Amino acid sequence: MSVSRLHQADPEIAAAIDAELHRQNSHLELIASENFASLAVMEAQGSVMTNKYAEGLPGKRYYGGCEHVDKAELIAIDRAKRLFDAPHVNVQPHSGASANIAAFLATIKPGDTILGLRLDQGGHLTHGSAVNISGLYFNVEAYGVNVETGLIEMEEVRRQAVATQPKLIIAGASAYPRQLDFAAFRAIADEVGAILMVDMAHIAGLVAAGLHPTPIPHAQITTTTTHKTLRGPRGGMIFSDTEWATKIDKAVFPGSQGGPLMHVIAAKAVALGEALRPDFITYQRQVIANAQAMAETLISEGLSLVSGGTDNHLLLLDLRAQGLTGKLMEGVFGAAGLTVNKNAVPNDPQKPFVTSGIRIGTPAVTTRGMNEDDMRAIARGMAKLVREPESATVVEAVRKDMAELSHRHPLYPELQPATV
Ligand SMILES: Cc1ncc(COP(=O)(O)O)c(C=O)c1O
Repeated sequence: MSVSRLHQADPEIAAAIDAELHRQNSHLELIASENFASLAVMEAQGSVMTNKYAEGLPGKRYYGGCEHVDKAELIAIDRAKRLFDAPHVNVQPHSGASANIAAFLATIKPGDTILGLRLDQGGHLTHGSAVNISGLYFNVEAYGVNVETGLIEMEEVRRQAVATQPKLIIAGASAYPRQLDFAAFRAIADEVGAILMVDMAHIAGLVAAGLHPTPIPHAQITTTTTHKTLRGPRGGMIFSDTEWATKIDKAVFPGSQGGPLMHVIAAKAVALGEALRPDFITYQRQVIANAQAMAETLISEGLSLVSGGTDNHLLLLDLRAQGLTGKLMEGVFGAAGLTVNKNAVPNDPQKPFVTSGIRIGTPAVTTRGMNEDDMRAIARGMAKLVREPESATVVEAVRKDMAELSHRHPLYPELQPATV
């Protein structure tokens, strides 16, 4: 992707993009919700399809000239349905949050009760935060994890559901290192007369590869992002059973969105095509193997992980025993070239902006081709930083090691920053 035209037309933005490429290439990206889309995905996303208005669905548009964008959207739909073995999908949501808003609009009314995972125990903002539309328009109830084990206990979810009689139960998380039991969620939803919505944003890539149980046959509605483990462009999708299909489509447009982002839908189709290939399964296996290698090393270095390990692409480092905060260590890791985010741990004594934990994910470094040995090296570096967070010498030594590791796995070698 040449940025030379952009350099001429707008050197300031070109410089910011070059600097971002340099940052992505020179740091180790361990934010669990991030990944690196392929050049093919980015080429589709940066294409002329950005110019086209296509309100409606393929074959039923409110605008002329949609024959080619129709083709792209139909391919995206077909690939998404095949990849997830789903009867229906809408590929238009602009993001995960937009997908969730549309799912709410299709299923519940303002004032209805929703039941989701507590935000301070791994849930997401859009599952009932007081400052999000989900918390402002609906009556929010929540289930948590067992604070000793870090695990969601289905008996406790059932107890909450029976006590609060929600209209909608939400399963899905932003910071939960273990597998979710979607069949058990559906049984509880059926028992209390609720609809089950699964938000598989984080684990969609693992689900696509058959490495995490799929929610599709269990949930009436499944939302996802396309840019996390699924490794596509930034965006969302909503799967549903056939009964909910029309309501979901109407809730996306005209219910909550206008013109779909056809360039992003084309890029979703490219990413879904990549995910249908056998090497995507190899990649997802490596994502999990890497997370487990990192977990084992952190534990052997004397550190503590919520739930004692991981089954998926992320781990949650619990810093309470060291008396450190997530806020401090996010900064220290960052100074050593490791990009992570602070995250609450169950029963966290610290405020949400401080926290006692760090969330670590392996999807992005795995895309760069790193393996278990690399994860062990990163984990040993992290352990050194946790032991001596104030030592500039330790930070510098770890930074050097991480820079060397980064250098051995170049990101987008075809894209050379022109101004950095
Ligand atoms: C579980 C879950 N759902 C929804 C979202 C929101 O996605 P987006 O940022 O695309 O709106 C996220 C984002 O992190 C998430 O983790």
